Amino acid sequence: MGTAVLTQARILVVDDEPANVRLLERMLTDVGYRQIRSTTDSRQVLALYTESQPDLILLDLMMPHLDGIAVIRQLQIPEDVFLPVLVLTADATSDAKKRALEAGAKDFLTKPFDRLEVLLRIKNLLHTRNLYLDLERHNRSLEQIVDERTQRLLQSEKIATMGSLLAGVAHELNNPLAVVMGQAHLLRSRATDPSLVQRADKITAGADRCARIVRNFLALARQRPPERTEVRVNRVVQEAVELLAYELRTDNVEVALELAEDLPVVWADGHQLHQVVVNLVANAHQAMRHMDAERRITIRTRLERERLLLEVIDTGPGIPAEIQTRIFEPFFTTKPQGEGTGLGLSLCKRMVEEHEGTITADSEVGRGTTFRIELPVVSRPSVPLAAGEHEPLPPIAGKAILVVDDEPDLAATLAEALERDGHHVEIAAHGAMALKMLGQRAYDLILSDTKMPVLDGEGFYTEIERRFPRLSRRIVFLTGDILSREKREFLERTGAPHILKPFDLSEVREVVHRMLVDAGGGPRPESAPESR
Ligand SMILES: Nc1ncnc2c1ncn2[C@@H]1O[C@H](COP(=O)(O)OP(=O)(O)OP(=O)(O)O)[C@@H](O)[C@H]1O
Ligand SMILES: [Mg+2]
Repeated sequence: MGTAVLTQARILVVDDEPANVRLLERMLTDVGYRQIRSTTDSRQVLALYTESQPDLILLDLMMPHLDGIAVIRQLQIPEDVFLPVLVLTADATSDAKKRALEAGAKDFLTKPFDRLEVLLRIKNLLHTRNLYLDLERHNRSLEQIVDERTQRLLQSEKIATMGSLLAGVAHELNNPLAVVMGQAHLLRSRATDPSLVQRADKITAGADRCARIVRNFLALARQRPPERTEVRVNRVVQEAVELLAYELRTDNVEVALELAEDLPVVWADGHQLHQVVVNLVANAHQAMRHMDAERRITIRTRLERERLLLEVIDTGPGIPAEIQTRIFEPFFTTKPQGEGTGLGLSLCKRMVEEHEGTITADSEVGRGTTFRIELPVVSRPSVPLAAGEHEPLPPIAGKAILVVDDEPDLAATLAEALERDGHHVEIAAHGAMALKMLGQRAYDLILSDTKMPVLDGEGFYTEIERRFPRLSRRIVFLTGDILSREKREFLERTGAPHILKPFDLSEVREVVHRMLVDAGGGPRPESAPESR
């Protein structure tokens, strides 16, 4: 501790003898102390002390009105605060010294003063005072860190509780939402009247937004590691944009895709990446919706130094610098209630990071925003790609499909859609009923819910494996949500494709179509009489 620091110290001098005060003041100023206050009236001390907040008090013991000991008591310096009081005594008895010490004095000086001794005592006490202040500061910053961490912990606990609560609600919304989406889809494909088409589109857009919220809630609660398959990122981008196409078109948002053709297939969770792109595009859209200027979203993919780059660039208003650090926090939103939950980007971040990737925002107010995702290229070379994944699927003759779902409206919607594709569809309300029907006639494909009364998806599948083994590779599961590890493991074990509710009917139709094409036009896996 340098002398320069010590001379900054504030010193309060209290002595009823003006000559003593002057002497001390001179001694102190001579060696550089600058912040000295003094009084000869002990009744003034408390006010002076409060006002000047000294680091050291030089205090005479014997004074009229209030003696030194009374002054010390009056100051009420807490025991854990090191604010030294240096007592000045002429010929005090050892009893007075003892009482002064008991009251809280830190040291004594005997009059007449020895200059060297005075200065040395003061210097030492101030030195200790400074150490104390440093320690205080240190403690305070530690306390602050602890506080912040606690807050963050509470926050993440709150999110976890809230997440599972919301997931429960979201879960309940799945089936009715799938019905709304499916019916709107059917309405649109049937309608010839343009105004009806428009209405159907509006219902679809609204339902899609609900579905997105539901999916975000579920993803928040799910917190599960990516389920990796071979994914073509360009395709994920195209599908996400197709999903939002209608909303974007109605708001005159132009979308430009600049997708590199040489992208490797990556080993990643296609659902999660889809969700990331949908959230980023939705954000860009929402940011530009009320702008007069050009509204354009550019999505760019490319390979750069063994990393896969995905950029979503908008011509929107940009993000103010002061909130850029907060946008990835869960529940941070600048949108009015009912328009944003503040979950989109936090989920994007989590999902990207679970893929060992990074997500960053580059934005300037008035110049638009670029979200940039970098993913390591992880591949699974040992497994060949499904043939012709990219080409349009060849048409296929009508097949017999069994839909198993305990929600009659949902089952009927699915059946109607598949029948429109030329298939013959029958419905079973649960696994046990389905097994009975499978015994009576042959089906080419089963589309089954996983959560059903009487016999649920798992039990149903086990029975199929046992009784109709080849059909076990012709089953598609529809799942509300896979919260439990057991269910997830069950689904993984079956290797059957599964579609998350609420689904888009075109997704279901495509998966069904693909499975039927892959199965070839060959004979039905089992015809009922033989398998018995
Ligand atoms: N492209 C963008 N342009 C301008 N601001 C953006 C953009 N993307 C995100 N933001 C800002 O970041 C905030 C957080 O985004 P995030 O997606 O996490 O939540 P949200 O969009 O508000 O709600 P949710 O996605 O849950 O519906 C937004 O409220 C917005 O202020
Ligand atoms: Mg968002």
